This record gives sequence, C-alpha cells and structure tokens, in this order.
Amino acid sequence: FQPKIRLGILASGNGSNFEYIIKSIKNKQLNAEISILIVNNPNCLAINKAIKYDIPYVIINHRNCNSRLEHDILVKKKLEELSVELVVMAGWMRIVGDEIINRFNNRLINIHPSLLPSFKGVDAIQQAIDKRVKITGCSVHYVQKEVDSGSIIIQAAVPLEEQDSKETLRKRIQDMEHIILPIAIAKVAKKIRTSFMGNK
Ligand code: GAR
Repeated sequence: FQPKIRLGILASGNGSNFEYIIKSIKNKQLNAEISILIVNNPNCLAINKAIKYDIPYVIINHRNCNSRLEHDILVKKKLEELSVELVVMAGWMRIVGDEIINRFNNRLINIHPSLLPSFKGVDAIQQAIDKRVKITGCSVHYVQKEVDSGSIIIQAAVPLEEQDSKETLRKRIQDMEHIILPIAIAKVAKKIRTSFMGNK
C-alpha cells in the first residue's frame, strides 16, 4: 500500500489537462489526490472543473501582485500550507521563478505542446506550423530556470497533416497530452515515493 501523492495543479486556461488528471485518479490509474488547484486568473475555465468535481481551488491573481516574486511566494506558500508533494503545471501560462523551482526541485513538472527542445515558449503549435514540420507533439518535463528546458519525462509524437488548421492540430496534440500527463505524474510520483525517506 502506497499513500496517495498530494498534487498541486497550476492552471491558467481551459483546464482540460486538469480534468484528465481528475479522471485518471477516479479510474485508479493514478494513486493521487489533488490538494489544490491554483489559478492565476479569475476567468480561468479550470475553476469550473474544480467546482464540478469538488476540488479545492484558489485564485492567486498576479494582477494584484507588485512583482513576479510576490506572486511566486504566494503560490509557494499555498502549496506548502497544504503539504503538496508534486506540482503540475497544466496549462500554466506563467514563468515560474527560483522561489518555486528551488523549493520543488524534482517535484515540479510542466506540459508543453511541442516535441522539446523544438518550439519552446509561446505559441508552440503555431511555431510548428510555421516551420512546416511533419511531426510535432507534446512533452512533459521537469521545470528549470530556463523556460521549457528541464529534462524530459515523456513525449508523444503527433503528425502534422497537409489539411491541418491550428485548431485541428491543437485538438490532436491535446488528445495526446491527456494520455501522457497522467502517465508522467505516476512516473514522477513513484520516483518521489521510492526516493530516500529523509529526502522529503
Ligand atoms: C495545453 O495544450 C498545454 O500544453 C499548453 O496549454 C494548454 C492548456 O490546455 N501549455 C503551454 O503552452 C505552456 N507553455 P488546458 O487548459 O485545456 O489543459
């Protein structure tokens, strides 16, 4: 018997990845519980999913903070308060700083809609279309200071078809994200659980 890993989810958008994490917990693919959903934007649709599935959430609005550091500290405090063990950036459209990165070393992961190290940063799907690549995809990786550069945990490839629009491609990439993110979480959770007990 392994106790459930306590997850903190950071989201800024629709929350489809957040919802798939919930589903994979419900169907027992993932031995985890979501301690909190943190959103940075009061209009974030992920909030509706938290309400639907009765998951605690908090809005930490970066517009009410004077600096990135101040926002990061508030996010970190909330995660600490709830003894979160693994932080998942599921469509978190903000760069996180040292404050969070150092505190959650090897316990902070992100999903990105490209095959890293290609197409880092904003609008990765459009970047892939502009370069006319034949294959793109999605990656789950550890978060490091340099954006979208930490070591990769899992990736899935998605072919780019002639007739693809940005929206059709996004849909296929997201279908793969919904599969690989829970797998990545399970993999990292296992690592955390099997790591030296004092190494918490
Ligand atoms: C996902 O496709 C994720 O890869 C992307 O935002 C989307 C969020 O969708 N993240 C980034 O672009 C990070 N740079 P969701 O809110 O429906 O999960």
